[in-house]
Amino acid sequence: MGFVIAVDGPAASGKGTLSKRIAAHYGLAHLDTGLLYRAVARLLLDKSRALDDEQAAAAAAYALNLAYMDESRLRGAEMGEAASRVSVIPAVRAALLDRQRDFAAQEPGAVLDGRDIGTVVCPEAAVKLFVTASPEERARRRHRELVDRGDAPPYESVLADIRARDARDTGRASAPLRQAQDAILLDTTELDIDAALARAIAVVEEVRGASSLP
Ligand code: CDP
Repeated sequence: MGFVIAVDGPAASGKGTLSKRIAAHYGLAHLDTGLLYRAVARLLLDKSRALDDEQAAAAAAYALNLAYMDESRLRGAEMGEAASRVSVIPAVRAALLDRQRDFAAQEPGAVLDGRDIGTVVCPEAAVKLFVTASPEERARRRHRELVDRGDAPPYESVLADIRARDARDTGRASAPLRQAQDAILLDTTELDIDAALARAIAVVEEVRGASSLP
């Protein structure tokens, strides 16, 4: 097992950008595990299946080949919402588990971001970060992203979506979003990406100093 860095947190907390930067800094591979759930939802929508069709969703999760999925069709608020709906299905989570663990097992290590990396996928990760920010700050960031892309939903509706997604992600029975006991909390409400990266690197360095890895 290489040096695994697990990054979890709620929607629009900045964990994706942060994970990418951590991976680049250490020359490690990075997996945005949200993309797997988005791809399952995409496959169902493309086949006109319901997002709560458990059998079709599990089959889609087993059949998933990310190499054939076009990332531009997976991004966007509707796909995030759809992903959150298929991700409550235990058979979907089970189908995606080995893939994520195989990715994590590569040498010299990997960075995975999601909701349940530190708690379920990689409980033995060398470093666990739980990245969060206030719902209002996350809604501001998501709103800015949407405006930059040419969409202009009212801020209030973006905030309502963020709250609804938090409730679904933390309230589900199977692998709910929660901070692992041994995860370090990184609240980015007042931090820009460079400041958040500096904090994350400091945490990794502390662990590396103790274990001399990677
Ligand atoms: O970027 P954003 O945080 O909006 O979404 P994402 O990380 O792509 O995740 C989309 C949805 O997939 C989340 O709301 C979760 O419900 C689900 N997900 C999950 O259940 N477990 C993961 N490891 C990653 C994502």
